[in-house]
Amino acid sequence: MAQSYRVARVSEVPPGAMKGVTAGLTPVLLANVDGTIYAINNICTHLYVPLSLGKLDGCVVTCPAHGSKFDVRNGEVVEWVTSKFPLRAEQLLKLKGKKSATTYKVSIEGDDIYVEF
Ligand code: FES
Repeated sequence: MAQSYRVARVSEVPPGAMKGVTAGLTPVLLANVDGTIYAINNICTHLYVPLSLGKLDGCVVTCPAHGSKFDVRNGEVVEWVTSKFPLRAEQLLKLKGKKSATTYKVSIEGDDIYVEF
């Protein structure tokens, strides 16, 4: 059975903004895209860096570590490991296979944001 967690207030995540929260023990990234709030796992699927430290551009969050980009609406990888490294390091970094981010159902009640999974 799914569990619902109150994670933030709508006013804390205005359009174009994102916020890292926890739902139970799960790190979650909330992102407001044109007034709709989406939730994906906050940990980059590449090497476990918080996506909330990155940048949100429209519906795409960019990981601050190696530049992977994820669509916050569905968790899909838009680009994988885009930063430039010396050739050998780049090959090693790309060895870890591309993996989409987990997304979560969001509901709004008044000014409260709930994440469910
Ligand atoms: S940890 Fe996010 S791209 Fe490497």
